[in-house]
Amino acid sequence: MEGSVAALRLASPPSVSPGAMAGARQPQNDGLRSLPLSGHVGFDTLPDQLVNKSIKQGFCFNILCIGETGSGKSTLINSLFNTSIDDPMSTHFHPNVRLKAQRYELHESNVRLKLTVVSTVGFGDQLNKEDSYQPIVNYIDAQFEAYLQEELKIKRSVFNYHDTRIHVCLYIISPTGHSLKTLDLLTMKSLDSKVNIIPIIGKADSISKTELQQFKRKLITELVSNGVQIYQFPTDDEAISQINTIMNGHLPFAVVGSTEEVKIGNKMVKARQYPWGIVQVENENHCDFVKLREMLICTNMEDLIEQTHACHYELYRRCRLQEMGFRDNDPENKPVSLQEAYEAKRREFYFELQRKEEEMRQKFVQRVKEKEAVLKEAEQQIQANFEHLMLMHQEEKLKLEKKRKALEDEIALFNMKKANAELLQTQPMVSTPLSLKRDKDRKNSSFT
Ligand code: GTP
Ligand code: MG
Repeated sequence: MEGSVAALRLASPPSVSPGAMAGARQPQNDGLRSLPLSGHVGFDTLPDQLVNKSIKQGFCFNILCIGETGSGKSTLINSLFNTSIDDPMSTHFHPNVRLKAQRYELHESNVRLKLTVVSTVGFGDQLNKEDSYQPIVNYIDAQFEAYLQEELKIKRSVFNYHDTRIHVCLYIISPTGHSLKTLDLLTMKSLDSKVNIIPIIGKADSISKTELQQFKRKLITELVSNGVQIYQFPTDDEAISQINTIMNGHLPFAVVGSTEEVKIGNKMVKARQYPWGIVQVENENHCDFVKLREMLICTNMEDLIEQTHACHYELYRRCRLQEMGFRDNDPENKPVSLQEAYEAKRREFYFELQRKEEEMRQKFVQRVKEKEAVLKEAEQQIQANFEHLMLMHQEEKLKLEKKRKALEDEIALFNMKKANAELLQTQPMVSTPLSLKRDKDRKNSSFT
């Protein structure tokens, strides 16, 4: 956790709904009696103490830069922070969208800023639109979840927790001059309750002045008609309300980025040089880059951090705690203690577990019954087959029995005939007139 203000937040998160933000910024009296002081006490140094502590601890700011591959994300960040972040170009062939987080430490005067730049890799290169924005939603939620888990710990690392929650999303829109792409609408719609979105028209040097004004109007109309909530610079602080109101009217900012420096007069300025002229990044007649930098860094950085915690994180936290079963009031609107909520959730889980167990038992019994029926049917089938085979076997046996009987009769007859024949052979020859004639015939036939 960087910065004492942020540390105080972790210790006691305010319960402010997004709709009540304007009211939350105003100090409330709560019916306290004002007492005059008769001499100097010293607590007027409290803001200075806080400032000193914050300066010592440093600040933390996390930017999410969403834009199609090659839309100018890295160049814009380099231009914004007047530095050169070494970020190699990515290809259009990533199978899915990835988020790349890079951490830097920047110093300006005596202020230390821990800057995290998270950029999309491969955004817009997928056919399925959901594949493009879901990883971004998941990433933002994961940072909220990490913070919530830290908050729920008994022993919290209040002072050295590194807050990775995204404070602002710079959403780069291609300068088509037409309208918002479906992907842009879907992505912004799915992110608007999770992060402060500042829409930006990238590479604004490629669109003419009149086209740009029309394009800006069209984008705002489309965002409004689709119910996409973009970040509005706060107008409730008198010191900045005028400038913020004017700047809200300039959204979305049309920016040009460059890492190149060109000599204009006797000054080196960030610019893009073309055969027909020079586009200066920090020239307000050329683009809105200065407006963006002023609004993002100089005027509203603290508000972005505050909004992230008090509005977006608060919403996430509330939903998650409700999901976990915690609630502030019971159905009769009586306050519910943490212990009661825990007990109620425990009971709910227990009953749910019992219900599931019973359901599984029923399913098991049903499946056993079904299996038993199938087995019984198979057994009956086998029994029927067996009986059929037995019947066939009996019939076959009977047939064979009959055949055997016939054969035995035949053998007996044959044996009888054989015995008769043998008997005839063993008897002495007696010549009868018939036998004599048979002998004579046999002889004659042997001569012819
Ligand atoms: P990836 O990280 O690869 O997705 O690209 P990126 O979105 O970081 O874009 P990058 O900053 O690398 O710029 C891509 C190209 O666009 C470079 O050639 C830049 O010089 C050019 N570019 C960046 N900003 C602008 C701009 O405002 N106008 C024009 N015309 N070109 C720009
Ligand atoms: Mg890049």
